[in-house]
Amino acid sequence: MSDDALRSVVVAKKNLEASNMLSFELVDPDGSELPAFSAGSHIDVTVPGGLVRQYSLCNSETDRHRYIIGVWKDPNSRGGSKAMHNDVNEGDVLQVGPPRNRFRVPRHTKRALLLARGIGVTPILSVADHLKAQDIPFAFHYLNALGSPGAFRATIEGSDFAENATFYLESSGESLDPKTVLADQPEETQLFICGVDWWIDPIVAWAKNNGWSEERIHIERFTAKASAPLLDKVFNVKIASTGAVFKIPGDKSVTAFLEEKGVKVPTSCEQGLCGTCKVKILEGEADHRDKRLTDAQRAEGYFLACVSRAKGDLLVLDL
Ligand code: FES
Repeated sequence: MSDDALRSVVVAKKNLEASNMLSFELVDPDGSELPAFSAGSHIDVTVPGGLVRQYSLCNSETDRHRYIIGVWKDPNSRGGSKAMHNDVNEGDVLQVGPPRNRFRVPRHTKRALLLARGIGVTPILSVADHLKAQDIPFAFHYLNALGSPGAFRATIEGSDFAENATFYLESSGESLDPKTVLADQPEETQLFICGVDWWIDPIVAWAKNNGWSEERIHIERFTAKASAPLLDKVFNVKIASTGAVFKIPGDKSVTAFLEEKGVKVPTSCEQGLCGTCKVKILEGEADHRDKRLTDAQRAEGYFLACVSRAKGDLLVLDL
């Protein structure tokens, strides 16, 4: 089986973690070990109906016989979370991709601060487990979202890292003030933050304005700003290897339109989150709309073709 190959897994358990929040325990059909993963990893899951969605692995990286994912029923679901909640049951077989990690704990981590809101707790759970096992000091601040209060609380309270966790409930007197927990942290502290954009962005902006370098901030997002709005600007894309030029319409992403024309750019999240569709621009300027690329990657000429567009009339792509 190649590294990228999909594999079948069986849903061994489907648990209600909180209102609108389920966890699924996935195992190999023959009881064999699953591919190893590192804390902070996610997998692609092909949900009923054929959509591919990414879910963080929230169990310990030392578990070799199961993957546990958390799925929040997003009221704005484009079909993925709704299908997982309504159509997937214990005993069903799903196709999953190999674990990938864009939220890795750096080897040199000496101290950490973990911040999670709502479904953002899922990758943080495996990171907390890893830090505890490595004896790395950390504090874990978990803001329970009003839509799913208490999700995974029992898991945390029964874990080795229970003493590191502090719980907050949104819109209550217990609400988390991220600025307070970020202030006065030792220089060596690494920040791991996961949640939705509107919660993450101001916290990260504050951190950067108050001495936290980009290298110390590790972000996993659960939503991105909307992709190309209807009737966005029309522009041309030229494929450098063939010279073919395509006019990208205002209501289609670059990846979607190129796929229709037989030019396949690998994609996964289609929300500017995962980086799978990264393409180098040889000519022209990108209108970046992703939440993934670093300033350095943008300066090198990369853009994420599933959401980003062109500032001018033409992009020449290294395809
Ligand atoms: Fe995930 Fe484009 S497919 S960023």
